[in-house]
Amino acid sequence: MPASPLLPKTAPFADEQIAALNTVISGSTADQRTWLAGFLAGFAAANDTPGLASVPASPPARRAPLTILFGTESGNSEALAAQARKAATKLGFAPKVMDMADITVTQLAELENVLVIASTWGEGDPPQRAVDFQDALMADDAPRLDKLRYAVLSLGDRAYAQFCEVGKRFDERFAALGATRVAGRLDCDLDFESPASAWIDATLPILKPADEPAVDHAVIHVDFARPTADGPTRANPFAAEITEHVRLTGSRSTSDTHHLELSLGGSGILYEPGDALGIIPQNDPALADAVLTAAGLSGNGDLRTALIERLDITTLTGKQVEDFSKLTGFTAEPGWATGRQIVDLLEAGASKLTAEQLTGLLRPLPPRYYSIASSRKAVGEEAHLLVAALRYDSHGRARQGVASVDLTERTRDRVNVFLRPNQHFRLPADPDRSVIMIGPGTGVAPFRGFLQEREAEDAKGRNWLFFGHRHFTHDFLYQLEVQDWLKNGVLNRLDVAFSRDQPAKRYVQDTMWESRSELAGWLRDGAALYVCGDMNAMAKDVHAMLLRILADQGAQDAKAELDAIRRDGRYLRDVY
Ligand SMILES: Cc1cc2nc3c(=O)[nH]c(=O)nc-3n(C[C@H](O)[C@H](O)[C@H](O)COP(=O)(O)OP(=O)(O)OC[C@H]3O[C@@H](n4cnc5c(N)ncnc54)[C@H](O)[C@@H]3O)c2cc1C
Ligand SMILES: Cc1cc2nc3c(=O)[nH]c(=O)nc-3n(C[C@H](O)[C@H](O)[C@H](O)COP(=O)(O)O)c2cc1C
Repeated sequence: MPASPLLPKTAPFADEQIAALNTVISGSTADQRTWLAGFLAGFAAANDTPGLASVPASPPARRAPLTILFGTESGNSEALAAQARKAATKLGFAPKVMDMADITVTQLAELENVLVIASTWGEGDPPQRAVDFQDALMADDAPRLDKLRYAVLSLGDRAYAQFCEVGKRFDERFAALGATRVAGRLDCDLDFESPASAWIDATLPILKPADEPAVDHAVIHVDFARPTADGPTRANPFAAEITEHVRLTGSRSTSDTHHLELSLGGSGILYEPGDALGIIPQNDPALADAVLTAAGLSGNGDLRTALIERLDITTLTGKQVEDFSKLTGFTAEPGWATGRQIVDLLEAGASKLTAEQLTGLLRPLPPRYYSIASSRKAVGEEAHLLVAALRYDSHGRARQGVASVDLTERTRDRVNVFLRPNQHFRLPADPDRSVIMIGPGTGVAPFRGFLQEREAEDAKGRNWLFFGHRHFTHDFLYQLEVQDWLKNGVLNRLDVAFSRDQPAKRYVQDTMWESRSELAGWLRDGAALYVCGDMNAMAKDVHAMLLRILADQGAQDAKAELDAIRRDGRYLRDVY
């Protein structure tokens, strides 16, 4: 019997796709293969796909290898990596997408062409799954990267002092280790989609070594992309009806946190517990009016609409102060922008601007993300959100968070949303696996979704929730539901810490320490541990406490043990 044809390793697919296709091909009959070839050729002819008719009978020429290395926290870099993979396949590369969590620097040193896409988190920190990669890359004993040709795409937010720091750091370190930078780095702000796409399209052809054979004519453009939700996007969101809105914190609480229910009926949004919803907020009309007045542009209706719906009128960066200074001659000390907003700048500058000058100073209004606090198995076509309204004073002015106050105070019937999936914050595939959830404040939101899902699935794994806030009486979010879950056995353990109910502050990490022996026991029995909520005040302390607990409970090397748990996909964080 003649052997089945198998795709060579150089085929323009990821390894797992080659394996999957080979499984199909090797199990097929000659008739089935002929049918498939005819089907693809016919499809190409009907759709005018270039090149398919000229597919050579011989194995294709070697395609230039390309590794697209991403470091992500909330998925943007990963989505761009997938987009770059598609574009690279079309250009005749053999691209492979890799998470920084899954590569060592020794493996990196063996690569030829690398496209790095990395975001910056915390205050100039790498995404958590890229921390080990960064540490190894920056270490004194990092290997030389002389063979490597690379380019860096950096994601960030200009509102942060350390704008795109991680991309900058990687770019400089790769060069210092002898790698060849083939294209200049692009540092993207929150409206990264269009500049990042253009940069990828311009950079990929440069990454392709000149001596690689031209194989474009032989590439079969068959899109094996995962079935993506063709649902609403940031550019084309869904107007979800707000069907329920309840303030959860008591009237005497110092925080102001609300439960919202949105109807997603007809949207095509199919979320999983752990995902977030992107919200396109609107600015406070009163602030838009103050900005117009300060710029001498009151009465311009179109501009007012743009300031409310489309432009960021709250962030103020050093670059905006510089741009304004060039326009008006205004001078300010370094760091003047900190804690201030555009309206402060316009008032301090006391200069009239044209509408074009004002809009030229402003960036597009970025979306905000909220963890989905429900499971579709429990609530059908709804998504529930838990939103803490942000209010604070700075430089003598009362300020409001754009989205959180828009959602909780300016009651609108509908809000524009899109899905932001988070593949890295999912319940274990095995329902028998136990889960530990650490979610103080609004960090409890995804865990409500997790618990609804575990209850609906009748999952046998144990569930342990750590919750914390300020006061038991005013701030115990979802108290009745949580107590019901405790009663009906969905929740096996609940540990709470209310920081201001006693003279000494008490936080979730204190309750973790009190339960250290059971906590270490659950982890060593294979439980998955999830942390959600405040990145700076909570997640760092929880991480330090986990290390302390493992060391106290007999670990030879607590960091190595926690790293191993993380690599095993059992230490997952969604922190902001
Ligand atoms: C994946 C993800 C999930 C999230 N889930 C939730 C959730 O479930 N619930 C929730 O409530 N939030 C959640 N958030 C946070 C949420 O996206 C918003 O960041 C938050 O609601 C604030 O947005 P805003 O538009 O109201 O405030 P903004 O208008 O964005 O204002 C925030 C900015 O105000 C400034 N600021 C804040 N406090 C002070 C202060 N005291 N002094 C000076 N300046 C200050 C800072 O510059 C800060 O960046 C999540 C974030 C992410 C990334
Ligand atoms: C809590 C938080 C902290 C952040 N810190 C920074 C920062 O220090 N510097 C920066 O340039 N961007 C910062 N960003 C912006 C992210 O880099 C940006 O949202 C990026 O698109 C995220 O990409 P990712 O989804 O691939 O992680 C921060 C965002 C959040 C939510």
